[in-house]
Amino acid sequence: MEIKNQYVLITGATSGIGYELAKLFAQNGYHLIIVSRSHEQLLEKANEFKQYGIKVITLSKNLFKEDEVYSIYSELKLNNISPEILVNDAGQGVYGKFEDTDIYRELDIVNLNIGAVLILTKLFLKDRISKGSGRILNLASIASKTPGSWHSVYHGTKAFILSWSEAIREELTNTGITVTALLPGPTDTDFFNKAHMTRSKILKDKDNLGSPAEVAQDGYNALMSGEDKVISGLKNKLTVAMSNLASDSMAAHRMGKMQEPQDV
Ligand SMILES: NC(=O)c1ccc[n+]([C@@H]2O[C@H](COP(=O)([O-])OP(=O)(O)OC[C@H]3O[C@@H](n4cnc5c(N)ncnc54)[C@H](OP(=O)(O)O)[C@@H]3O)[C@@H](O)[C@H]2O)c1
Repeated sequence: MEIKNQYVLITGATSGIGYELAKLFAQNGYHLIIVSRSHEQLLEKANEFKQYGIKVITLSKNLFKEDEVYSIYSELKLNNISPEILVNDAGQGVYGKFEDTDIYRELDIVNLNIGAVLILTKLFLKDRISKGSGRILNLASIASKTPGSWHSVYHGTKAFILSWSEAIREELTNTGITVTALLPGPTDTDFFNKAHMTRSKILKDKDNLGSPAEVAQDGYNALMSGEDKVISGLKNKLTVAMSNLASDSMAAHRMGKMQEPQDV
């Protein structure tokens, strides 16, 4: 494998889809800048990725906090590093009816799923536009396509990410910079534990969950070929096609039935 003299900045690289994406970049000879909260997890994963002969920089940051997001680029600048690829993977959900959920947790989720993505992308573009090259992969979701009762704030953040990704992609035509959105369906990661969502009907049959490695491969391929978006997996493509035919209120009703607790 040829080692490329290029860095990939990837948030959420210690678990699930982000971890599988980071592994793919390492296997393809890219140096990595990996970001998450757990210092121990970052060191463990960095040691694993270094086996592919690449360099790995670990940045322990809580992306709920705006100042910690900004500090990523200031630390990279101090070391004269300009990542060629940005992967905005880190994201979380909050499960429950909006009337019951914790507003402070929801605002943290908005900061992580939207705020951190906007800040990192803005800083990436300011750095890369003059260089005339760059690739951005944003983790959207099939949740971007439907109002998600019982998971409403999360679905809203992912709808934002898909809409905004398509819009800036258009603005960036002829700059040498591409923007790709990855839309996984329910995938077998720690996401549902973090969202306190394990009692949801959507998890009744765990065999329905997708593989994070397959999702990552679909995202990697779409990013490298400069596609605007990819829905990972045939079943998820069909789900999106069906929800495109339904009215928003029908889609919200259907999602409510799918995502409500198993004991309802
Ligand atoms: N799993 C699914 O069904 C699914 C479906 C569609 C889209 N997605 C999207 O895919 C992305 C990755 O999710 P996943 O399923 O792979 O989840 P995961 O296994 O829980 O991984 C999340 C990653 O993000 C990091 N992270 C979480 N909160 C953070 C914070 N405040 N600051 C910095 N890093 C943080 C985690 O590390 P630390 O906890 O150590 O910080 C971890 O590395 C998310 O954007 C999610 O919305 C997931």
